[in-house]
Amino acid sequence: MRVAGRLAAEVLEMIAAHVRPGVTTGELDALCHRHIVEVQQAIPAPLHYRGFPKSICTSVNHVVCHGIPGATPLRSGDIVNIDITVIKDGFHGDTSAMFLVGQPSQLAKRLSQVTREALYVGIAMVHPGVRLGDIGHAIQTYAEERGYTVVQEYCGHGIGRAFHEEPQVLHYGLPGTGAVLMPGMCITIEPMLNAGKRHVKLLADGWTVVTKDRSLSAQWEHTILVTETGADILTLRTGETPP
Ligand code: MF3
Ligand code: CO
Ligand code: CO
Repeated sequence: MRVAGRLAAEVLEMIAAHVRPGVTTGELDALCHRHIVEVQQAIPAPLHYRGFPKSICTSVNHVVCHGIPGATPLRSGDIVNIDITVIKDGFHGDTSAMFLVGQPSQLAKRLSQVTREALYVGIAMVHPGVRLGDIGHAIQTYAEERGYTVVQEYCGHGIGRAFHEEPQVLHYGLPGTGAVLMPGMCITIEPMLNAGKRHVKLLADGWTVVTKDRSLSAQWEHTILVTETGADILTLRTGETPP
């Protein structure tokens, strides 16, 4: 899991310099695919997963998650989530980050920043004995106090030999409820925050999830190992420090 996590993080490190106005999300997909397969000798988990057609997810502006890379160029002012999952030696590493293209609005920058902070509020709570409802509640409270809403239809998950395992890691909830974390468990935390209402809809392609009111949405994700004393972030990028 440590190896898979490092490789997933390394794909985000590699792609960062390519996320610029004019590049298409399809080109970003091709670069990531080639890096994962040829350099890392790993497998891009999304490709053909339940019929998903590409190797990464690219979710631009009001796309909440599971955006399909394609021919549309990124424009200055866009915000895009790039979600990478690799399989190495049978184990999965899953991580995503927001990228600011050119000069986004203050709102877009703040939404992205607060969403990353919300991820870290969750990570800071990970230790043996904590309940998932405690984590979800903390993330939801952090987001709502800052004027954002939390998407409820999609969540984090256990991860290991399978992409999506139990437990479901909700980004909302009630303290004192839900599964208890134990040393050795691996989970993802991946909050999706909207600038408008929390409601989402699925587009006709069967994958792309957008905000119903077309408000901006942001997401950040890490794969986390529960240790005896706390948490290890398996997908930490080189030079990444908590917000
Ligand atoms: N990487 C996403 C997650 O964080 C799942 C993408 S499923 C796909 O769980 F099929 F769209 F790739
Ligand atoms: Co995930
Ligand atoms: Co992911």
